Amino acid sequence: MASPGKDVEKKIESLRGKIRHHEYLYYVLDQPEISDADFDKLMRQLKDLEAEHPELITADSPTQRVGGKPREGFVKVPHSSPMLSLDNTYSEDELRDWERRVHQLSGRREVDYVCELKLDGMSLALIYEDGKLLRGITRGDGNVGEDVTLNVRTVRSVPLSIPKEKLKKAGIPADFEVRGELLMPTASFKKINEERERNGLPTFANPRNFTAGTVRQLDSNVTAERRLDYFPYILLQNGRTYFDHHSKTLAALDSAGFKVNPNHKLVRSMNEVWAFIQHWEEKRDSLPYEIDGIVIKVDRTSLQDELGFTGKAPRWAIAYKYAARGGVTKLESIRWQTGRTGKLTPVAELAPIPIGGTTVRNATLHNMDEIQRLGVKIGDWVRVERGGDVIPKIVEVDNEHPRGTTEIEAPEKCSVCGTKVVRAEGEVDYRCVNANCPAKLLGTILHFASRGVMNIDGMGESLVSQLIERSLVKNVADIYDLTKDKLLGLERFADKSAQNILKEIENSKKLPLERVIYGLGIRMVGERTAQFLAEHFGSMEALENAGVEELQNVNEVGPRIAESIAEFFGNSANRKLVSRLREAGLTMSGQKKERGTKLAGKTFVLTGTLAHFSRDEAKKMIEDAGGKVSGSVSKKTDYVVAGSDAGSKLDKAKELGVEVIDEGELKKLSAH
Ligand code: IVH
Repeated sequence: MASPGKDVEKKIESLRGKIRHHEYLYYVLDQPEISDADFDKLMRQLKDLEAEHPELITADSPTQRVGGKPREGFVKVPHSSPMLSLDNTYSEDELRDWERRVHQLSGRREVDYVCELKLDGMSLALIYEDGKLLRGITRGDGNVGEDVTLNVRTVRSVPLSIPKEKLKKAGIPADFEVRGELLMPTASFKKINEERERNGLPTFANPRNFTAGTVRQLDSNVTAERRLDYFPYILLQNGRTYFDHHSKTLAALDSAGFKVNPNHKLVRSMNEVWAFIQHWEEKRDSLPYEIDGIVIKVDRTSLQDELGFTGKAPRWAIAYKYAARGGVTKLESIRWQTGRTGKLTPVAELAPIPIGGTTVRNATLHNMDEIQRLGVKIGDWVRVERGGDVIPKIVEVDNEHPRGTTEIEAPEKCSVCGTKVVRAEGEVDYRCVNANCPAKLLGTILHFASRGVMNIDGMGESLVSQLIERSLVKNVADIYDLTKDKLLGLERFADKSAQNILKEIENSKKLPLERVIYGLGIRMVGERTAQFLAEHFGSMEALENAGVEELQNVNEVGPRIAESIAEFFGNSANRKLVSRLREAGLTMSGQKKERGTKLAGKTFVLTGTLAHFSRDEAKKMIEDAGGKVSGSVSKKTDYVVAGSDAGSKLDKAKELGVEVIDEGELKKLSAH
């Protein structure tokens, strides 16, 4: 191939420079200067050029944040020096004791401190070589962590490369290590949890667990979608603190383009420390992420070195932990609340108690298993805690008070529509299966109208809430009975906006069968399953009338999904709904796609890097021949397809005696 001209190289470098600059403005400073569309355009140009000249792709190109190959597991990496934790204090007295020790051990009374927020995430080390991000390592046990580089690369506030001049100006050497906190902003946490709830997936308890789960995802595409953020607070060279003052570290990291948390302060006395602590205790709810206290650090590095460490924590820093905001109150009764997916959650009704500035009257008990774990009964006094934006929860029964005596019973009926609830085999949750249940309505309609489903642009929460309030929409079929007159009666609705929505609704009728199936919101039927169902049955009618046995012949449909589908169509209200959608003119048939049967009933696991196809291609080949692809090796696996660098899955296959094949053999097996 002719070597690309210098011009192309220059163009690529200039695009990368621009994109890095705009990423910094957007993700670090939160002050974008160009529109998302213009940003996407730059990215598109770069991607196109790189596609034409793949030999010019570098690991630090902004295009390389996403899309690492799924990993087998994480490699353990030793830290350059131990990643320490902090000792905690819980009162002003304890804090003053710590200050006295600092004075005694250092022989000084005038000590400067830096106060920082104690961010509630997980600590992460980033290794840079020649200004480029080389590795991201979790804390692990403090001495050895896990290499999570591919996932860390997807975090937009982590610079993938820093120009030499910029480092120089910041006074940072080309090879260095940064340590800091990886976290999930509360808004992303809520959004993703809501999305999971809508799709019938289990939700995460708090942003910290979510962050830890996310950075250890084997598929970095998942990490990329989950919008994590990174705040550094330590800079090392060869495992040692680089600058002579901590305050200089923070300033240098900031000028090198890292997202240093702005809420820190250099102070000269413990009184100022205390004022900082109190200030943020009051303000913590206004932050876009959760904090659980304040970290106080001795500013001068030489003094830090003098003070040294005890066990796993430095003597030169301390955490002041805010009290978990909670209290003890009486559990008066339980109400089973039906959520968007029909899931019933036990909500504890409490004797009102003020916690962190609000009066708490309700708390979640999650599910029946949690009730059993806590051993809680109605009439008990319970400890309730509230963190950030999260719904208060009951953490334990308070044994100082007399115990309650009324057992909490599992629900029998949906409290909103009265339909008998169902608990599937092996599941914790009870569900209302009535598609017309008003409690589920908002979520169901929003899901139906969303971009990946019927794509009715403009049908967001404010419109849907109004439609429900005025009883204009009681189920998804009612969307197709909306008229201009009905819409014009709504708030902020004029001729033009009504017309637009009606046009969007009309357009949605052309969308293919799989979208309609997905839009029905059948539990455990996501986008992919909907696609398989549409291909297998070729029409809604055939799907409606399929029995559990037949349903299980569909790719990736096992007994639980089959049950859920059959249950859905077994409900007469749901059938009526489908027939109204049919009358409204939605697409009810599609192309039946005969998948081959050569691999029917066979389960494959893919591992390692395949030389001739991407994973998706290999998967498609197997599925087209009627086989299934699973993520983990078990006795039920028929074949493991191993590429190069295959890891633990290959070992497991050998251990279980599962047949291991290469991609050539896979091709032969799946050929017609
Ligand atoms: S300094 C030797 N600063 O708290 C210094 N840690 O309980 C070690 N954390 O593992 C850490 N915000 O994950 C430091 N501003 C902050 C922090 C912070 C949160 C976490 C960190 C650490 C844990 C210790």
